[in-house]
Amino acid sequence: MHFPLWITALSLLGAATASSFKRQADGPEYQLKTGPLDTDWTKQVGTNPWPEYPRPQLARSEWKNLNGVWQYQNASGGAAELATPPFNKTLSEAVLVPFCLESALSGIMGSNLIHSWYRTLFDVPSSWFDSEKRVLLNFGAVDYQTSVFVNGKLAGNNTGGYFHFALDVTDLVNTNGTNELIVYTYDPTNTDGTSIPLGKQRLNPDHINYTPCSGIWQTVWLESAGRQYITQLDIDAKADGSLNITVHTSGDQGNSSVGSFDITVHSQGAEGVALQETGQANAPTLFKIDSPQVWSPDSPNLYNVTVKLGSDTVTSYTGFRTLSKGVIDSLPRPLLNGEFVFQFGPLDQGYWPDGLHSPPTYEAMVSDLKAVKEVGFNMVRKHIKIEPGLFYRACDELGIMVVQDMPAMPTYPYPYRPACTDGAVHVTPEQQQEFERELARMVEQLKSHPSITTWVIYNEGWGQSRYDRTTDVRLTSLVRSLDPTRLINTVSGWHDHGAGDFHDNHHYSFPQCGTPFWGGDSGPFDASRIGFQGEFGGVGNNVSIEHLWNVPHAISQINQTYELAETLEGWNFRVRATFADLRSQVEAWSCSGAVYTQTTDVEGEVNGLLTYDRRVNRMDVERWKGDIEGMYEAARNRGTVPDGGEEGGEGQVRRYVVGVDEPFKAEMMMMG
Ligand SMILES: *[C@@H]1O[C@H](CO)[C@@H](O)[C@H](O)[C@H]1NC(C)=O
Ligand SMILES: *[C@@H]1O[C@H](CO)[C@@H](O)[C@H](O)[C@H]1NC(C)=O
Ligand SMILES: *[C@@H]1O[C@H](CO)[C@@H](O)[C@H](O)[C@H]1NC(C)=O
Ligand SMILES: *[C@@H]1O[C@H](CO)[C@@H](O)[C@H](O)[C@H]1NC(C)=O
Ligand SMILES: *[C@@H]1O[C@H](CO)[C@@H](O)[C@H](O)[C@H]1NC(C)=O
Ligand SMILES: *[C@@H]1O[C@H](CO)[C@@H](O)[C@H](O)[C@H]1NC(C)=O
Ligand SMILES: *[C@@H]1O[C@H](CO)[C@@H](O)[C@H](O)[C@H]1NC(C)=O
Ligand SMILES: *[C@@H]1O[C@H](CO)[C@@H](O)[C@H](O)[C@H]1NC(C)=O
Ligand SMILES: *[C@@H]1O[C@H](CO)[C@@H](O)[C@H](O)[C@H]1NC(C)=O
Repeated sequence: MHFPLWITALSLLGAATASSFKRQADGPEYQLKTGPLDTDWTKQVGTNPWPEYPRPQLARSEWKNLNGVWQYQNASGGAAELATPPFNKTLSEAVLVPFCLESALSGIMGSNLIHSWYRTLFDVPSSWFDSEKRVLLNFGAVDYQTSVFVNGKLAGNNTGGYFHFALDVTDLVNTNGTNELIVYTYDPTNTDGTSIPLGKQRLNPDHINYTPCSGIWQTVWLESAGRQYITQLDIDAKADGSLNITVHTSGDQGNSSVGSFDITVHSQGAEGVALQETGQANAPTLFKIDSPQVWSPDSPNLYNVTVKLGSDTVTSYTGFRTLSKGVIDSLPRPLLNGEFVFQFGPLDQGYWPDGLHSPPTYEAMVSDLKAVKEVGFNMVRKHIKIEPGLFYRACDELGIMVVQDMPAMPTYPYPYRPACTDGAVHVTPEQQQEFERELARMVEQLKSHPSITTWVIYNEGWGQSRYDRTTDVRLTSLVRSLDPTRLINTVSGWHDHGAGDFHDNHHYSFPQCGTPFWGGDSGPFDASRIGFQGEFGGVGNNVSIEHLWNVPHAISQINQTYELAETLEGWNFRVRATFADLRSQVEAWSCSGAVYTQTTDVEGEVNGLLTYDRRVNRMDVERWKGDIEGMYEAARNRGTVPDGGEEGGEGQVRRYVVGVDEPFKAEMMMMG
């Protein structure tokens, strides 16, 4: 009997994970590529990347990381090719999973990678084979469409580049030998005729649009779960100690009985059990704990949650806090735990020169958040990208509120700005339907993170219809029905149609936050909604070539920056001037939060608090701390508790009438 080489070679390696080597058995050898720019973490990645358990809100103890060196080959995507996956064939190249195929860390660093094959081999611990257990194969995220084959059989498919998915492969894997995993991916990015949620990815990057990310870009792992297992925990915990939890389950393999679960909750910071109860799965269950230590950016208290359902046990966590809106001194305000908290932070894109969508390491990812927190920002706007679960856990732990954008489609639908159309593609009804399905999936995937305060449906006009108000209203209702616990910013920038909780314009460099002077693309300021500056700033500062994305096309577009300061002193001066302007708007007008562009440089953009390689921090940290604290103080001085008390929120919303309104007159006088 002839066994292919990989089987014999692998059995000699015993229990060692194939992925801890630079190649898989007789496969090609992995080589880190030299990209246009690296980071201090690039060379630390090695061949066992992202060893952390990747899904902190639904964690199991028995798991096995499949990240590492896999095989890769480009594909044509033809029907014939799809019908014959490369079972038992060594593919031509080595790829480091989980890094985007276009990234240097992947070892591929290709372009126009529309169709791809991945292949790896794995063992399943024999203790996982038990009639009371199931084997799950999990993917953190794969861009864009995926088909997964285990030992020659289709295990499942997925569509959507930002979502985790789990496949029950119990009946496909064997315990007595090596298993073969083949993954097929299709990622059109913005190929003509397509329009998918993709954020800033473009086949031909151009200033504010960047290199795409194709294929597997988050951790792949196996785990052992109970026979009837927990598929998702929806947890909403409020400042009054109420805990609303739904334990979703897989069903009991043909047995429709769902059973009850046991839940234990205890504070991460205090001794003792806060709650020990039982409940029924697959329906919302309400519990209550006494005097919780509430979650806020200043004291991000978290509670560990353990849920046991039959033979399945998962751990998770939550934070007790309440998000709402209220009226304070006639102005609509976003409230956290019943009080107005000014939300201030950078536009956070989450791009990396070495990994693109995939941060090189966990430490690298969190270092951005620490730099943001260090100067006192209390929020990030996660910009048209969805991050790994560990990113949101870091925000929950550090105390950083998250304004979460839906990844945009690339198009400007007809009849808007024909000159700006990207490939002259318009959104078809099918594409719109898929956008809405993925929007719902984003909310379902992220809604248990205490730090997320706001959902953003559209960024500027991307994928949004300029004239069709009904779609904005309908999508706002959809998101509201999926998650009534948060605020909704229907449109951040440009075409405001009156839907959602915010009126949000984008204005560079200087802000126009909640002011009645300027509406621009967003129309006149609507004082009945919360005034918010979804983007301002963008002040640039060019750097020497060793900190730049060294691609001629990117460098030639640096001159498109709104303004470029010659020196770091000049840059700090200009940014602080925009902060001073913002502060005057917080003092005089209806400004409840603002987003400074942006956390880091990205490709041809040089307007970050940090350079793209994260080696230069442009901020004059001590002065920024003072400015940012001053912004909160100015906001507190406008009042923190709603008219009619903390529970109230009833109050008369003032409607500015330009030229007549008192604050407007006051400002005119101030201006001389
Ligand atoms: C793979 O890429 C190479 C180089 O771009 C191309 O020549 C080849 O046709 C591609 N193969 C498939 C199957 O698409
Ligand atoms: C791959 O090879 C092994 C060993 O020869 C065999 O058992 C298995 O069926 C093959 N897989 C497929 C999908 O043909
Ligand atoms: C899964 O996707 C493949 C193509 O990638 C397709 O041939 C197959 O029909 C899909 N199966 C299901 C169940 O959707
Ligand atoms: C492994 O076990 C399966 C049943 O789970 C059996 O069909 C197969 O022949 C066994 N393979 C080897 C190499 O022993
Ligand atoms: C609990 O959460 C569910 C959604 O998961 C929601 O439908 C229900 O209204 C919530 N219950 C309370 C009392 O908030
Ligand atoms: C179905 O589940 C219930 C509750 O867990 C259990 O008592 C019963 O034996 C199960 N039935 C079958 C056929 O497995
Ligand atoms: C809470 O859970 C985390 C993750 O499982 C663990 O590291 C930590 O020790 C737990 N804290 C307490 C107080 O149990
Ligand atoms: C930015 O700096 C790079 C070199 O570091 C230079 O090539 C480029 O011309 C500069 N661009 C502008 C607009 O200053
Ligand atoms: C920016 O520089 C490029 C190449 O150097 C040039 O073609 C372009 O006209 C410049 N654009 C602006 C706005 O100055």
